[in-house]
Amino acid sequence: MRNDFYEMKKNNEKISMVTAYDYPSAKIAQAAETEMILVGDSLGMVVLGYPSTIQVTMEDMIHHAKAARRGAPDTFLVVDMPFMSYHASEEEGLRNAAKLFQETGAQAVKLEGGSSETVSLIRKLTNGGIPVVIHLGLTPQSVNVFGGYKVQGRTEESAARILREALDAERAGAIALVLECIPESLAKEITDKVDIPTIGIGSGRFCDGQVLVYHDLLQYGVERLPKFAKAYADIDNVTKTAIETYIKEVKEGNFPKVEHSYL
Ligand code: KIV
Repeated sequence: MRNDFYEMKKNNEKISMVTAYDYPSAKIAQAAETEMILVGDSLGMVVLGYPSTIQVTMEDMIHHAKAARRGAPDTFLVVDMPFMSYHASEEEGLRNAAKLFQETGAQAVKLEGGSSETVSLIRKLTNGGIPVVIHLGLTPQSVNVFGGYKVQGRTEESAARILREALDAERAGAIALVLECIPESLAKEITDKVDIPTIGIGSGRFCDGQVLVYHDLLQYGVERLPKFAKAYADIDNVTKTAIETYIKEVKEGNFPKVEHSYL
């Protein structure tokens, strides 16, 4: 299992991360040799059909992360802490992170935001032996506070806040930063100022690595791709054509044939 992400950053070797949510998606991601798999709470939208990540529960994350772990036993696996699983109290955050980490066999948990409470949690989790990835910029669990999925860090004040959060997270022990939907100049500044790797999504060209959502990358069941995503396949059409062909063959009596039958 590759986990030399600091060295990769130092050597200017880009890091690839892709999300996966179950056994087959994780298995394919591992076979393709991505260095990191994220069991993201985007699971809520792309797999479970919810309108946002807010509906996703601890049980959902554990269930899907365990399946992804079985599919990719040899790839560095990061699992999202879901909505409000670490906000009610630090003790609850610690217990939920421990549960997620122990039950799924992940290498790290990911938390959104860089508040002083989160920084304290990073320190305690790291001291307790749980590596933490911090997600900054557009943090989807706060979409209702932001008033929509909007680029963050455009004003001087919010750029300064995100930079400060990045530095605080690194100081507290975070092992990597996911930077979502911030201007690429800010992502570059953060990337240059921290020793830990930055993984960008919608944050331009200069992060140490990139992450894409599996379903966006494959154009698989998504209505509309965000501007920052790129589809490398068209799984919807491949799948639809295959199912249409199957239906046609069933109706015409051309499937099953003798070779599919037990004689
Ligand atoms: O949940 C997720 O898939 C994520 C990525 C978009 C970074 O957090």
